[in-house]
Amino acid sequence: MKKVVMAVVMGAVISVGGAFAADGKAVFQSKGCTACHNPTVDTVGPSLKKIAKAYAGKEQQLIEFLKGHGKAIVDPAKFPIMQPQLNQLKSLSDAELKALAEFILSHK
Ligand code: HEC
Repeated sequence: MKKVVMAVVMGAVISVGGAFAADGKAVFQSKGCTACHNPTVDTVGPSLKKIAKAYAGKEQQLIEFLKGHGKAIVDPAKFPIMQPQLNQLKSLSDAELKALAEFILSHK
């Protein structure tokens, strides 16, 4: 039982400690990305877990995609559904884009 409590407490500390991840989550939610992206289950769009796997170690490439410069690598056939969503991100600063990418990548 003690072990379980410790694990929960440690988990809370780690998620609060990741300040970038917290901001990225806020961006993700405020831009309506949650409508099509679930953390673990594929819905309209691929799960964040699947995206994080595809972009593991490629944070810069993910940021380029979010800026509208990259090519879809997760599910290119459905990119026409995703493409208009990228307009939501045009107003973001580099720091916010980085936070968003880090939030997505934290779902491995
Ligand atoms: C209307 C539904 C919808 C919304 C809203 C949406 N997405 Fe997507 N997204 C998709 C679909 C479908 C795909 C699969 C096509 C693809 O891989 O580009 C996708 C793919 C992606 C990918 C993987 C790109 C790749 O390389 O294949 C990322 C990253 C992503 N979305 C981020 C976001 C972010 C950030 C937001 C919020 C601004 C968002 N999505 C909002 C439907 C959506």
